[in-house]
Amino acid sequence: MGTHLIGDTSEVVVGRGRPRPLLPPSATRARVALLVQPGAEPVGDAVADGLDVPVERLALREGEEAKTLEAVGEVYAWLARIGLGRDDTVVVVGGGAATDAGGFIASTWGRGVEAVHVPTTLLGAVDAAIGGKTAINIGGKNLVGTFWLPRRVVVDLDVLEALPERLRREGAAEVIKAGFIAAPGVVDAYRRHGVDVPLESVVEAAVAVKTRIAASDLRERGERALLNLGHTVGHAVEFASGLSHGESVAIGMVAEAHIAAAKLGFEGVEMVVSTLERTGLPTRVDGLDRDRVMELMWRDKKRDRDGLRMVLLREVGRPEVVHVEADDVWPGLEAVGV
Ligand SMILES: NC(=O)c1ccc[n+]([C@@H]2O[C@H](COP(=O)([O-])OP(=O)(O)OC[C@H]3O[C@@H](n4cnc5c(N)ncnc54)[C@H](O)[C@@H]3O)[C@@H](O)[C@H]2O)c1
Ligand SMILES: [Zn+2]
Repeated sequence: MGTHLIGDTSEVVVGRGRPRPLLPPSATRARVALLVQPGAEPVGDAVADGLDVPVERLALREGEEAKTLEAVGEVYAWLARIGLGRDDTVVVVGGGAATDAGGFIASTWGRGVEAVHVPTTLLGAVDAAIGGKTAINIGGKNLVGTFWLPRRVVVDLDVLEALPERLRREGAAEVIKAGFIAAPGVVDAYRRHGVDVPLESVVEAAVAVKTRIAASDLRERGERALLNLGHTVGHAVEFASGLSHGESVAIGMVAEAHIAAAKLGFEGVEMVVSTLERTGLPTRVDGLDRDRVMELMWRDKKRDRDGLRMVLLREVGRPEVVHVEADDVWPGLEAVGV
């Protein structure tokens, strides 16, 4: 399997098991701080065994709890105790919440130390761990963060294949999103196999989409916005409904497909719906207040003066950032039951 580069310094390695040595060469690294998400301990053990430098290990808090200022403060205090130096490395093992928090910590400790991520969820492997956006939650979600490219991201297909179905479905929304943006073969694979798709056939392609787009726009000034397909409606649905991120993005992709049909003549609405249904992801949501969802969307940072910038498909593989107004959005929401 392959290696994908973002610039000269950030590589994403997709394969089975872990590369040996796990870490990129360094003449000065004296130790590793290993941060492991609860639930990912077996991978943490294997990673610790495979390191040829002294390792200090700490358990992160569970899920989003790791992304609080308090939890980050606990990790800083621990790094001070173990004396992690400027030439040392932070290795993070876990899902997107772990790599968001651990990446933030690596970017700020000593004004920035090397980060290496070993994502253990499908969402983390194709999205969160790649591309250097770090974040913690202060009041609102992801309001504080940095851009800090991990030196290496190790995607282990054996780990992803062993995930419970819930986590493979949750990540599938982002894999399918990458497919709609730039990898039609991924969409075909999910249409054929649903959530039990051979991950080997789709993860590498989704990683390639994420690395290519992130590399072209590291600071999210332009093209990187394309990765927000399904997320403008999806985030609002997530906040209003309490559905998971992946479920909400699935519903968002359907609503935005309807909007794309009206604005750009997109002809694939049925295909979007059936791909997501085949994967066991929701394509409608009942009981939400449409005004509230609109309000949440308009509060989002992707708005301009009298509308929103939304990523819409002209066809699969041809996304565009399009200015939309409220009148464009209503029918899309209505089509998914909002
Ligand atoms: N930085 C970015 O570009 C970016 C992009 C997308 C999402 N994110 C962030 O990612 C986070 C979501 O990531 P996530 O979906 O991975 O959630 P998560 O990190 O909260 O992990 C979900 C669950 O997976 C469990 N888990 C982890 N590894 C496991 C394993 N090997 N086997 C069994 N269970 C395991 C964890 O215990 C946890 O309960 C959010 O905080 C989101 O903001 C960041
Ligand atoms: Zn997402």
